[in-house]
Amino acid sequence: MIVSENPAVALRTQFEIDVRTGLCHDGQKTLPSKYLYDALGSTLFEAISLLPQYGLTRAEERILRGCSRDLVRHLPGRVMVSELGSGNGRKTRRILQALAANEPVSYYPIEISRAALDACEAELGDMERVSIVSVEQEYLEGLATVAGVRPAGSHLLVLFLGSTIGNFAAGDDARFLREVRSFMERGDSLLLGADLLKTPERMIDAYDDPLGVTAAFNLNLLARINKELESDFNLRAFRHEARFNHVSSSIEMHLVSKTRQTVTFPQSGFAVAFNAQETILTETCHKYTRATLAELAAKSGFWVEAQWVDDKWSFAETLLRAS
Ligand SMILES: C[S@@+](CC[C@H](N)C(=O)[O-])C[C@H]1O[C@@H](n2cnc3c(N)ncnc32)[C@H](O)[C@@H]1O
Repeated sequence: MIVSENPAVALRTQFEIDVRTGLCHDGQKTLPSKYLYDALGSTLFEAISLLPQYGLTRAEERILRGCSRDLVRHLPGRVMVSELGSGNGRKTRRILQALAANEPVSYYPIEISRAALDACEAELGDMERVSIVSVEQEYLEGLATVAGVRPAGSHLLVLFLGSTIGNFAAGDDARFLREVRSFMERGDSLLLGADLLKTPERMIDAYDDPLGVTAAFNLNLLARINKELESDFNLRAFRHEARFNHVSSSIEMHLVSKTRQTVTFPQSGFAVAFNAQETILTETCHKYTRATLAELAAKSGFWVEAQWVDDKWSFAETLLRAS
């Protein structure tokens, strides 16, 4: 297990700064989506992935079940695998299995969520010829760590699954992938899972299920803030809303203030006023097309080596090669 020095202290301080920055300015209030994944948030995300309305995870599972052997044929030499935001790693089993059939594999899941890493180790810890080194760091910090222990002559396969790439704001996805590319060598591979554009109704349903699991996942962010920053959000005074933004081609998750209210942060010395119906944007989930994925690859220093698309739920798994 690799962790940064004093990760809890560093994270709390940064958390406080990010919450304050996101809530205390004119215009749309925001909170970074990475903070949705505390222990309860990670568990709720696992539940979301089982919902009939949330087709992304099952689509990616189907693709990986079908393409993993083919994928491995595209990877030259001795492969080292790292995954950005592995979650519980369940889908990754297929890829590791296919690779381990040839030779032993080292797998480095990179996560900010300790709970997700624990779930990942429990999920994949039984695999023969697969050694797991968990990296409890942010994506790029973790990738720097992985690049630093990479054996000479190995091929690096970076996994970025679950359409997490869609959580970056427009333009930031390419900037992020360029940074990822900077830790890779020419010829290395990036397997990118991305949800494709479909009807707004289908997309909204995926982020606003009738059981209210996604609503709980979203509202839990306020509970986390209350717990860690000792603020006084009244969770019953906010509701979850999923919207499709046609301009940015993104689903947006909002928390809507039901009334005019003020939330206080006595330990941090600030307060936040909300108008009735004012919202906090907590997550953006961009929806791609095959053409926009190819553009994204070209802008980020990759070319498209292979692509697999699910026919029941339009989702693309794209194998990118670092140019
Ligand atoms: C949408 S979930 C996807 C999980 C998994 N890859 C899947 O496909 O089901 C995103 C995951 O990335 C992690 N994550 C989010 N932001 C991160 C960051 N900045 N650095 C490292 N991990 C992050 C979260 O904890 C979460 O487990």
